[in-house]
Amino acid sequence: MKLSVNIDHIATIRQARMANEPDPVYAAALAEMGGADGITIHLRQDRRHIQERDVEILRRVIKSKLNMEMAVSMDMVKIALKYKPDMCTLVPEAKDEVTTSGGLDVIMFTEKIQEVAGNLLAAGISVSLFIDPGIDNIKACHRLGIRTIELNTGEYAKNSGSNYARLELEKLKKAVTYAKKLNFALLAGHGLTYQNIKPIAAITEIEELNIGHSIIANAAFLGLKEAVARMKEMLN
Ligand code: PXP
Repeated sequence: MKLSVNIDHIATIRQARMANEPDPVYAAALAEMGGADGITIHLRQDRRHIQERDVEILRRVIKSKLNMEMAVSMDMVKIALKYKPDMCTLVPEAKDEVTTSGGLDVIMFTEKIQEVAGNLLAAGISVSLFIDPGIDNIKACHRLGIRTIELNTGEYAKNSGSNYARLELEKLKKAVTYAKKLNFALLAGHGLTYQNIKPIAAITEIEELNIGHSIIANAAFLGLKEAVARMKEMLN
């Protein structure tokens, strides 16, 4: 299973002081040395962590795949077309949220998603939609002609160890089976840690996990290369 490492929090530390360190570009290099198959960044509209400068440099220097998470907005499309990440993951974005707080409502925002995804795909950029693991959401993605989805593991992860988490895991597995029948490329992520990763890593249909917070948190003690290598080992 592949691992894309989200390095937003390196930029969060930098922006806490409006300084020029730590640099997410260095973080990307170390993550790749630790075995990352991709680098994920979320260029938020409020620019609270990743800046356009990071997208520009990362696009030029990383050896693996660059996945840019972005809001469903034509302003963001302009930026994506300028820097051409390998993939854009469309996520819901709310001003006051601490982190992405749920999957996209694909049914409610069908037209907007179609416009944004259409422009990205036409420019040769892959598109993934971050969705909660519901069958209706998957059907809506299929109707839109989307080929890649990232299933939100957040509910499973934040309740891990509980009965609720077991139900969420079953929901994820059902969503995976359904999506696989429709030939989706399947990704997953949110809230995953060394402690809760195992049952998710055991779902072999998932091609790639997208993990940020826990890896960066552990990097403070272990170093980033080692923190990534440990997670990568647990995926296989
Ligand atoms: N996937 C998406 C769409 C996200 O927005 C995030 C958080 O930025 C992640 C995965 C990674 O979540 P975490 O930082 O909790 O590992």
